[in-house]
Amino acid sequence: MFSKLALLAVSATIGPALGETILGVTVFTRHGDRTSKHFPGYSLTSLGAQQNFKVGQDYRGIYLDSGSSKRILGISEDKYVSSQVYASTPDQKILLDATTAFLQGFYPPLEEVTRLTLANGSTYSNPLNGYQYIHIHSEPSTSPNSIWLKGDDSCPTYTRASSSFKSNPEFQQRTEATTPFYARFWDILRNVHDYRPENLTYANAYDIYDLLNTASIHNASFAPANHAISQGISAPDLARLRTLADSAEFAANYDVDEPMRSIGGATFAGAVLARLNETVATRGRRKFSLLAGSYDTFLSFFGLADLTAGSADFYGLPAYAASMAFEVFTAENVTAFPAVGEVSVRFLFRNGSDGEALKAFPLFGRKEVALPWSEFVAEMGKRAITSVREWCEACESTAEFCMIYSGPTTIWNPAAYAISGVISGIIGGTFAVLTILGSKKLGEKARARKARKARENDICLAEMGALNKAGAVERTSSVGGESV
Ligand SMILES: *[C@@H]1O[C@H](CO)[C@@H](O)[C@H](O)[C@H]1NC(C)=O
Ligand SMILES: *[C@@H]1O[C@H](CO)[C@@H](O)[C@H](O)[C@H]1NC(C)=O
Ligand SMILES: *[C@@H]1O[C@H](CO)[C@@H](O)[C@H](O)[C@H]1NC(C)=O
Ligand SMILES: *[C@@H]1O[C@H](CO)[C@@H](O)[C@H](O)[C@H]1NC(C)=O
Ligand SMILES: *[C@@H]1O[C@H](CO)[C@@H](O)[C@H](O)[C@H]1NC(C)=O
Ligand SMILES: *[C@@H]1O[C@H](CO)[C@@H](O)[C@H](O)[C@H]1NC(C)=O
Repeated sequence: MFSKLALLAVSATIGPALGETILGVTVFTRHGDRTSKHFPGYSLTSLGAQQNFKVGQDYRGIYLDSGSSKRILGISEDKYVSSQVYASTPDQKILLDATTAFLQGFYPPLEEVTRLTLANGSTYSNPLNGYQYIHIHSEPSTSPNSIWLKGDDSCPTYTRASSSFKSNPEFQQRTEATTPFYARFWDILRNVHDYRPENLTYANAYDIYDLLNTASIHNASFAPANHAISQGISAPDLARLRTLADSAEFAANYDVDEPMRSIGGATFAGAVLARLNETVATRGRRKFSLLAGSYDTFLSFFGLADLTAGSADFYGLPAYAASMAFEVFTAENVTAFPAVGEVSVRFLFRNGSDGEALKAFPLFGRKEVALPWSEFVAEMGKRAITSVREWCEACESTAEFCMIYSGPTTIWNPAAYAISGVISGIIGGTFAVLTILGSKKLGEKARARKARKARENDICLAEMGALNKAGAVERTSSVGGESV
């Protein structure tokens, strides 16, 4: 059975069945190479930017290039058309940078497409050889839309469910069994200001792996190649550190008996449904969506969507710049968007930026890699969180934007709560805010306005607090922290 799945996966990399038409694609990407997230201000490196850029270029080759059999129906090949393309990322610099780099490869600069001729005959192109400025929606943690790509952040019930892994016997056993192994890295890690020998345990599996992995890439004295001549890290040790981090992070983000651990995957599933549904509901007007996020969202979704049933590789952390793609397609060679009954979806994964191809894998423990749209919607729907209210309630969140769901608080005062059109434009996102705006009840509207007014103030505060927060996050273990 395993070889049959493998065969299916291989055939899907070769190209679509003859005559098939791709109607729309939603992609979720991880950032490329970065500095260790143990240290505040960690960031995408030049290597990381190149990796995200290359992945964007490769997606361009598959879904935009006029010579490609997988070109999305009717998509603009060279000129970015804002109605066709949607991009969203949490408001974190590393993810915004990764998204920008991807899009630079996806719609590269082109003088002709940005060329403008004025009334007096002078011509102009955008700077940097016709750079194309692509709209990226970045969601601060104070926005209700932040839950779609960071459903595990600021979610107390997630933090509790995730940390409960630490009291299970498997965790205790693994901690005891690996303590001598971790102790070997004290010489290397003693320079990390907040590490003591007692911190070298499985409880810090991801953090230790991340510190040593980034050192092995960036610091010549630790590179595995130099192992013989220094106290560096050997390739087998690094592999073991990675496997241990895989097991700790997978367990923290998915457990069949602890649904709250996979809240990040559940909101992500909701985001994917909303993005793909936009393609289907607009009959292909929206053609490509790019979302960016963290390895824990990948792991959570891998578990939730049962990708691990088809390949045990999905228990592992995705490589830098890894990406998942959801293709909306129809089996026929068509020139117009078909009836919904003719639409199918398939899932693909690419584990990094070089070598690996984008491969199709079966979702939901099935054998087939393609599912009819209605079945896909039903299966995703079982796993997805699709409203902010559901998230607020499941998380028992105290986020400001959740307050509108917990009963009346203040008396309606139009003068105090009035917000300018500019601010509502900034805040008005795509998914759940529509629910709020669509509300017919005056009381709810008033509370929503109050919440939005509060967020207006919070945007500045959030920016000011971002550095402090980064510092605080680095000192916690990756369980329950921000993971990018
Ligand atoms: C699809 O149809 C178009 C014309 O409508 C044709 O040019 C193209 O070769 C067809 N593609 C396949 C794979 O049959
Ligand atoms: C044409 O108009 C633009 C904008 O007013 C101006 O900057 C430019 O110098 C003009 N070109 C010529 C040749 O007059
Ligand atoms: C190291 O352990 C101490 C005491 O157990 C703890 O306070 C500290 O937060 C830990 N540091 C890290 C980086 O885990
Ligand atoms: C490499 O590691 C050594 C030993 O910890 C340290 O002194 C040095 O500053 C590091 N170099 C870089 C570029 O981080
Ligand atoms: C898709 O969008 C349409 C129109 O906005 C909506 O009526 C429908 O409920 C949505 N379906 C899903 C599965 O989100
Ligand atoms: C991605 O690559 C990592 C590192 O090689 C590996 O551990 C993981 O299992 C891979 N994931 C998949 C789905 O292939």
